[in-house]
Amino acid sequence: MARRPLVMGNWKLNGSKAFTKELIEGLKAELAGVNGCDVAIAPPVMYLAEAEAALAGSQIALGAQNVDVNVQGAFTGDISTAMLKDFGAKYIIIGHSERRTYHKESDEFIAKKFAALKEAGLVPVLCIGESEAENEAGKTEEVCARQIDAVINALGVEAFNGAVIAYEPIWAIGTGKSATPAQAQAVHAFIRGHIAAKSQAVADQVIIQYGGSVNDANAAELFTQPDIDGALVGGASLKAPAFAVIVKAAAVAKN
Ligand code: PGA
Repeated sequence: MARRPLVMGNWKLNGSKAFTKELIEGLKAELAGVNGCDVAIAPPVMYLAEAEAALAGSQIALGAQNVDVNVQGAFTGDISTAMLKDFGAKYIIIGHSERRTYHKESDEFIAKKFAALKEAGLVPVLCIGESEAENEAGKTEEVCARQIDAVINALGVEAFNGAVIAYEPIWAIGTGKSATPAQAQAVHAFIRGHIAAKSQAVADQVIIQYGGSVNDANAAELFTQPDIDGALVGGASLKAPAFAVIVKAAAVAKN
């Protein structure tokens, strides 16, 4: 089954009002007429209003980097699914390793966020992946399975219908040291197989992005791999020309 690739930019804690407008104008110009790949950007939530306005009429979808499990009430500092929807956000990153590490988010808590997003009709982009130590200890598959099973155990495998998984080995994030295409493909195949053990149909349609030092030079080769359905891009998503090269590489490789 052909899956439509998704390349998403994770801006992390970067930008300003002016930067948001400028980068989006650049992306719209670079990506005009490019088909065959879904594209999304996740600016800081502070700038969703500027991003929504700048993206009006374009094919680029809006996303966010986090969401809370509560919908409203006394939860100081949190952002709800309803608020994200209010700005037209669609793809919401959850479980990023930076949140797992710096904010002590557990697999179970992240599964609750997944549930909140599904309930709201938003698309979860569930980040998973092992640390360098886990990788060296041969625990990559065990860690990825555990992180996926937290969602399957809470919501059932069908929750992955219309959802996105981003495999992001922590040792590859922001280090300039991407997993090789073969390394990433092996883990992606494992992840798809793990889901297929519960439902082949769900496994066939779930988008599995690779993330971790994807750039304009290494993206095309990563996308030659059959189970790599796009990329979650950090650093290289902050420059319109580099991000556009990655999007175009996915569009070419997957069509
Ligand atoms: P990077 O970040 O592309 O800068 O490695 C990816 C991510 O953390 O999503």
